[in-house]
Amino acid sequence: MLVSETRLAAREEYNRNHQPSITHRQNVDRYKNFVLLPLSKRRFCQECQQLLLPTEWEKHSDHQFLCNITTTQLKSPSQLLYPLENKKTNAQYLFADRSCKFLLNLLIDLGFRRVLSVGTPRLHEMIQSKASQEEFNVRSLLLDIDFRYSQFYTEDEFCHYNMFNHHFFGGEAARETCRKFLYEENGEGVIMVTDPPFGGLVEALASSFKKLMAMWRETEKEGHDNKEMPVFWIFPYFFESRILDFFPSFSMMDYQVDYDNHALYKHGKTGRRQSPVRIFTNLTPSMIVLPEEEGYSDMLVLATSTVRYAIHVHQKMADDGNIVFFAKNVPDKKKGQKTRKRDGL
Ligand SMILES: C[S@@+](CC[C@H](N)C(=O)[O-])C[C@H]1O[C@@H](n2cnc3c(N)ncnc32)[C@H](O)[C@@H]1O
Ligand SMILES: [Zn+2]
Repeated sequence: MLVSETRLAAREEYNRNHQPSITHRQNVDRYKNFVLLPLSKRRFCQECQQLLLPTEWEKHSDHQFLCNITTTQLKSPSQLLYPLENKKTNAQYLFADRSCKFLLNLLIDLGFRRVLSVGTPRLHEMIQSKASQEEFNVRSLLLDIDFRYSQFYTEDEFCHYNMFNHHFFGGEAARETCRKFLYEENGEGVIMVTDPPFGGLVEALASSFKKLMAMWRETEKEGHDNKEMPVFWIFPYFFESRILDFFPSFSMMDYQVDYDNHALYKHGKTGRRQSPVRIFTNLTPSMIVLPEEEGYSDMLVLATSTVRYAIHVHQKMADDGNIVFFAKNVPDKKKGQKTRKRDGL
């Protein structure tokens, strides 16, 4: 499918307008100076969302700022920066701690050593901070539109990237960083984890992800031509058929992803899980073990897949023009499917 000329032009203009005035290198240099400061001189301007060096205090004197920024805070930028919640452009909904831990433990159990974190700053920072604390051999490269992160990560750890049109703001050098990251160990041990804004157009996202997957495929020197780069695409379940249109090899996992700052998608007060957000993956579903401590028993998973299978048969019968028997309590999933014609944006 083709993205319209108007939309392409709009995206290019967005890229131009969002080219930052300060470079990533300058931000890295500022960070190096910042960490040399004693705690009492480490300030963060909340209005400008910027780490301040003492020579800059004057300019921000009437702004709100935080003092005594610790190393722990510097290692958790997603806690220091306020989440950008504009639904269309950023929708920065951050993983609840247990979902983030589940993801990371799953990646470790599956033997991955490198994570291409596309729009997952909290997962990236959990990996980065573990890597600096203990013997931990997983690394991450963050690709995100939010340039504020360039204050905390080097060019080998963060690329300013637009996942709607596969644009690296840092040009060829940034693209090369990404390529190198994927090429390491002959492309083995790497997975892409992405959690795009839910208002994002599936078609545009899929096209960018295919380009990242193609970048990985170029690494394959030893003839595993038909293999795909492993992917976790985190998105609401009602986009299932759209995602499968673009990636027929993907399946949807039963795990329900929770967020800290999303009123609808966080763990229910009653203890009932209610997030509609799932993980779509091209890994074999049986490789993925869901956490029993979060209530995912084999029975529950079996029941969910039985319901899903029943819905599938039901839809197939309807599509084939056969007589359809309606179940009395059609699960929410079925209702949701009816309304998923639009992708948003
Ligand atoms: C739903 S949030 C996911 C955050 C993730 N749950 C976490 O906690 O790490 C979407 C993420 O994608 C990023 N983002 C939004 N639009 C983007 C774009 N066009 N290109 C790249 N990243 C984008 C946001 O800055 C944000 O980090
Ligand atoms: Zn300021």
